[in-house]
Amino acid sequence: MNKEHINVWEEDRIGIIQLNRPKALNAINRKMVDEIVDQMQAFDQEDQIRVILIKGDNRAFAAGADIEEMMEETPLSLELLDPFAVWDKISLIKKPTIAAVNGFALGGGFELALHCDLIIAAEDATFGFPEIKLGVMPGAGGTQFLTKAMGRRKALEWIWLGEPMSAREALHYGVINRIVAPELVDEEAIRLARQLSNQAPISLRLIKEAVQAAEDQSLLEGKKIERKNFYVAFASEDQNEGMRAFKEKRPPHFKGV
Ligand code: HXC
Repeated sequence: MNKEHINVWEEDRIGIIQLNRPKALNAINRKMVDEIVDQMQAFDQEDQIRVILIKGDNRAFAAGADIEEMMEETPLSLELLDPFAVWDKISLIKKPTIAAVNGFALGGGFELALHCDLIIAAEDATFGFPEIKLGVMPGAGGTQFLTKAMGRRKALEWIWLGEPMSAREALHYGVINRIVAPELVDEEAIRLARQLSNQAPISLRLIKEAVQAAEDQSLLEGKKIERKNFYVAFASEDQNEGMRAFKEKRPPHFKGV
């Protein structure tokens, strides 16, 4: 299932995508983004997959968009190809997504992690938006995700200065979920993914949609979506199973229907 710039496999109902350009610290070129997005969409459609996990290697999650490739761009090539638009498709993935970060998650690499629902990182991982040092700026959602996570003032400080953000700082500002020893990142991410894969899949997606609405919509609209999704959950067999299991004092067995 491997492609040119990513390795792909499945493990315990978890769909795993590993970025694979180690010599360039997994710098993300256009082909790689296309491969990542295609694979995420494929996993999203596969019945047996419950959670999608993205990882790099020990040295880097991804050190940014591929600078060599970007050097060839012109305003018109960017306008005509609109190469960052494809990233929006990641926001439409319905299943839970987890980023497991070791080493560098910079620029576009940080943005890829921020597109995921949950981020597990090594305690010595490095995040950041160094784009300003290249005379540009984040372009695949970085200004939006970081501001929503840490607020305007802190986001501006980080993105204006372009300095590396330690995993501890990222955790402190609520940008990532958990930090663990570097050698435990994969284990912790898989453990979390397994936990999620045992939850009712329809509830997971309805919750994801409702939480997303809290960021994108007004409180009233968000509450409407939450309410609607609560009602929709009652159309699932899993709602029946969950409540019956409670009554029968046994663990539920969810099927995703
Ligand atoms: C292309 C990259 C790269 C990148 C590293 N490499 N980052 N190639 N694009 N973003 C390559 C290096 O050129 C080098 O290739 C090899 O990976 C190893 O990197 P080194 O620099 O030798 O490693 P090290 O000294 O350990 O430094 C690590 C580093 C540094 C601090 C992460 O590589 C670095 O600053 N990288 C650039 C980070 C960055 O600016 N990212 C933002 C990009 S802009 P050779 O062939 O020399 O061995 C961006 C815009 C997003 O992301 C827009 C939306 C998608």
